[in-house]
Amino acid sequence: MRYVVSGAAGFIGSTLAGTLQAAGHEVVGVDCLTDFYDPAEKEENARGLDVRRLDLAEEALDLDGVDGVFHLAAQAGVRSFGDVFPLYVRRNLIATQRVFEAAAAAGLRVVFASSSSVYGEAEAYPTPEDTPPSPVSPYGITKLGCEHLAHAYSAAFGLDAVVLRYFTVYGPRQRPDMFFRRVCEALLTGETFEIYGSGEQSRSFTYVDDAVAATIAAMERAPAGAVYNVGGGEEATMLEAIALLEQVSGRALDVQHVGPAKGDVSRTKADVARIGAALDWEPRTPLAAGLAAMWSWASATVAAG
Ligand code: UGA
Repeated sequence: MRYVVSGAAGFIGSTLAGTLQAAGHEVVGVDCLTDFYDPAEKEENARGLDVRRLDLAEEALDLDGVDGVFHLAAQAGVRSFGDVFPLYVRRNLIATQRVFEAAAAAGLRVVFASSSSVYGEAEAYPTPEDTPPSPVSPYGITKLGCEHLAHAYSAAFGLDAVVLRYFTVYGPRQRPDMFFRRVCEALLTGETFEIYGSGEQSRSFTYVDDAVAATIAAMERAPAGAVYNVGGGEEATMLEAIALLEQVSGRALDVQHVGPAKGDVSRTKADVARIGAALDWEPRTPLAAGLAAMWSWASATVAAG
């Protein structure tokens, strides 16, 4: 198959593109290499892939000869109040509306990367997909807006869209603003790690290869219009997660508590029964194993400078 992967120089997008390519698919990657973090890191992620520079918010996406679109390009990160909000509107809402428009016109399936952040402080844990969404971050609001756009394009133009709500994905290439990446770097450099709030907040951390497997299964086998949680099986608090990484690395982390981050939820726990039943997917990577892989990658990356 010939697939477009947007955000193909990013953390999950580049891992997905590499996995698809290794499985024999042709991948056309697009990415606008924003400076949210060092574009050189994204160039490195994209090495060995065909990634074209394209700003989805204003340039046309060529879908000629394409069999499906994985739309992962986004302005990520839940800490999204303030002056950065227009970037979230542009890179999430506007870019996604244009992708849906193009895919609907071409009659192609889009697998859309949404987020656990659409739930906010969820009404139920584990959280099934029909829990009323109530995002508490501007980022989550834009992701929920994108989900609504998918439904609207399906109703009006027959868009074939599948929505995946990823739960805090981690592993090699994780973005530098994210928790595990920062913990690894602090362990490697000996710098102090700043934890937002008590550290008792918890997440259904999801290993990147598991997230990628769910994403490919969604393209290949999901019914049109499906919405699935893609979440790890083990919930851990940040303090438990730090203890695990200390074990994996054999080092001690110097932790300083700072104020809680606005837009942060106190807990995520994915109910993955729906995707399990529909796509026979379940998270397979135990947190300790995923963290060992992430630590190896982070150590090698820091050693390579
Ligand atoms: C992550 C991603 O950043 C979002 O892009 C994604 O959409 C979201 O998961 C999701 O589940 O949908 P988050 O859960 O906040 O968001 O992931 P991290 O940035 O890894 O943060 C995890 C926890 O660590 C948060 O409670 C955060 O406050 C805390 N943290 C993070 C710190 O205490 N210190 C830091 O330096 C960074």
